[in-house]
Amino acid sequence: MTALRWIQRQDADRIATVSINRPEKLNALNLEVLEELDACFAELDSSSEVGAVILTGTGSKAFVAGADISELAGLGIAASKQHAMRGQAVFDRIERLSKPVIAAINGFALGGGLELAMACHMRVAAENAQMGQPEVGLGLIPGFGGTQRLARLVGPGKAYELILGGGRVRAEEAQRIGLVNRVCSADELLDTSRALAARVLRNAPLAVTYAMQAIRRGLEGSLAEGLALESDLFALSCGTEDMREGTQAFLEKRKPAFKGQ
Ligand code: COA
Repeated sequence: MTALRWIQRQDADRIATVSINRPEKLNALNLEVLEELDACFAELDSSSEVGAVILTGTGSKAFVAGADISELAGLGIAASKQHAMRGQAVFDRIERLSKPVIAAINGFALGGGLELAMACHMRVAAENAQMGQPEVGLGLIPGFGGTQRLARLVGPGKAYELILGGGRVRAEEAQRIGLVNRVCSADELLDTSRALAARVLRNAPLAVTYAMQAIRRGLEGSLAEGLALESDLFALSCGTEDMREGTQAFLEKRKPAFKGQ
């Protein structure tokens, strides 16, 4: 594993827990943090040891309080476009990962922090978490995918309200509108996230990857394209050894032993 300054990673039971470690700035994403996040997820994608990832922030106050405002403040038009495209590419890598990523939101997830959490496949929030897209209050708009992913997750009405108003939602409200999957106490956040990951890890790894692809790529196109994609991936899953094992194990009333083949 490459040694990184701003990102910590611990692996156990096929789950990698990745922490953004810049608590003195509430884990704000400067370019160095973004690049390290990218490197970390590139390694995770190719790791055969890791089957699921939990992403969180160091400290009890923030998941990530946004893109680093001190870097944004000096950007001109051309550089700001590059900045947005770089952030989007890093978050895209996370969304396209071949294994599920769960955001464990341990406090503020604002601006780029909420955009990062939304690039993950599932979200668990601590009761003290607060989420929002406050960019318009700074004179800019979300640039790391927020205008697109928030509307897809919670629908256009709530997305307009949150992005145009710039206000924050607390964990319970976030769960009510479908922005987070689960809410728990701060003490239970990592255990709850691990339980969600462990639930996925019981299943056939290739089937999980194909299902993730079907959902993600399906959201990018029309229903007809999504259904065509689903039948292709369904057929691929039916060609795996694990499919033989899973169906046979059911018929023999035993637990399957999946090999990821
Ligand atoms: N970029 C850069 N630095 C940030 C930051 C960000 N997005 N968010 C917080 N920080 C820094 C603060 O400047 C402060 O640094 P300092 O101690 O060197 O002054 C430190 O993190 C602690 O933040 P502080 O504002 O003192 O904490 P708080 O508890 O009073 O407020 C927040 C917490 C999250 C409400 C507040 O920090 C905030 O509004 N942050 C910006 C959120 C935002 O607009 N994000 C979108 C950016 S596009």
